[in-house]
Amino acid sequence: MRHPVAKISEIAQGTSKLVKVDDDKVLIFHLSDGVYATEARCTHLFRSMEKGKIVEDKCVQCPLHRARFDIRTGEVVEWANFPPGVQLLNAVRKEKALKTWPVEVEGNQIFVVA
Ligand code: FES
Repeated sequence: MRHPVAKISEIAQGTSKLVKVDDDKVLIFHLSDGVYATEARCTHLFRSMEKGKIVEDKCVQCPLHRARFDIRTGEVVEWANFPPGVQLLNAVRKEKALKTWPVEVEGNQIFVVA
């Protein structure tokens, strides 16, 4: 089912917007080659990534322990590494990709297919 979630004119290239799709909080990213959707909660310790940093038109970095995820695939690019010592937590919080959803754009309208 297609969910209209935002207008592309609301999300400047290189930024993201938090939306809700059914019961999921979803981040909509506007990158140089299109629009992408990932879950908004970091898979490490569930911090919201609404204020996550977009790195090199490719990754989103969690603001808490700096895990980085590929926005296009959800895959982990670098697992939590900050502050020093967080690696102890990582023994029980193994790498896990972000969920992603297909996105369609028609004119100015962005749809998430869920
Ligand atoms: S909660 Fe995101 S890296 Fe730890």
